[in-house]
Amino acid sequence: MTAAPSHTVSPAPQAPSRAGGELFTEERSAEVVAASFAHTPNARLQEVLTSLVHHLHAFVKEVELTEEEWGAAIDFLTRTGQMCSDVRQEFILLSDVLGVSMLVETINHRTGGTSTESTVLGPFHMTESPERQPGDDINLDGKGTPCLVSGQVTGPYGEPLAGATVDVWQTNEDGFYDVQQPGIQPPGNLRGLFTADAEGRFWFRSVVPRYYPIPDDGPVGQLLAATGRHPNRPAHLHFIVSAPGYRPVTTHVFVADSPYLDSDAVFGVKDSLIRDVPEVDDPARAAEVGLPNPFHTLTFDLTLLRADSPPVAAPPAPREADAQPTLAEGAFEGGAS
Ligand code: BEZ
Ligand code: FE
Repeated sequence: MTAAPSHTVSPAPQAPSRAGGELFTEERSAEVVAASFAHTPNARLQEVLTSLVHHLHAFVKEVELTEEEWGAAIDFLTRTGQMCSDVRQEFILLSDVLGVSMLVETINHRTGGTSTESTVLGPFHMTESPERQPGDDINLDGKGTPCLVSGQVTGPYGEPLAGATVDVWQTNEDGFYDVQQPGIQPPGNLRGLFTADAEGRFWFRSVVPRYYPIPDDGPVGQLLAATGRHPNRPAHLHFIVSAPGYRPVTTHVFVADSPYLDSDAVFGVKDSLIRDVPEVDDPARAAEVGLPNPFHTLTFDLTLLRADSPPVAAPPAPREADAQPTLAEGAFEGGAS
């Protein structure tokens, strides 16, 4: 008898056992990547990255991003970075034209309608404003339409904020800030750091602000052109107003009849910040304030919240019927976890 051949049945190949994670699939891509953040020591960083990954993956799935489009996006972001320098921040400009700067500003400075609304800082507060005295003329290049600017800084109960600091800057008649034209405009042209008087009042001489384009000679300008958008901002005067014990506000006042009020390239306009800038024909008043007659007036009163005032809640979300769906249904289930 011969021994029966021994048949050894080899087991079906098995995936090597893995200690941890689920492998990447199209369906569960966001969850798989988000799980990789499970041991992030900083809880807020984990929350933000998790949400970011969910939104990014939902976006890629919704538009079915092609490899060429992915490459173009990488190239765009690379060129955006290469455009940045000590005096140019193209990434902030990108955030501005996508409305992200305004959204972050608005979320972080809710007023509940009780104080002056904020708007974007913009890139041209890169130099300290020269200290000025009440009534000073900040128009050092003599161009433009003379304008008397004045206002009062108060707290939420109308209390005058004596000694409030009022930092202002604007473009000249050609639509450029002094820092954009070194050697052409005098340094400090159309800038000033004023101190409000005992009643919280300030006043100075300047020119009627005019509209101007944001820097559009880089990738952000190309994005605007490719989407049929113009680069202009409506006429405005920038303010940063602060007082001890109160929350500072970074804002603008906009000129009521300016072009581009309803299509600001950076979405900075809020209704509450628009003011008429009427012409005044009053030789006696002109002589009193030291302006040629006629001149224009721009009055902008500001209210600051107390530093210890409780945070203002987010406005209610739009009713579902009014909400505009932007993501394909089901593409994003749940956010930060
Ligand atoms: C500005 O108002 O100075 C400004 C704001 C955002 C982008 C560019 C300019
Ligand atoms: Fe500006």
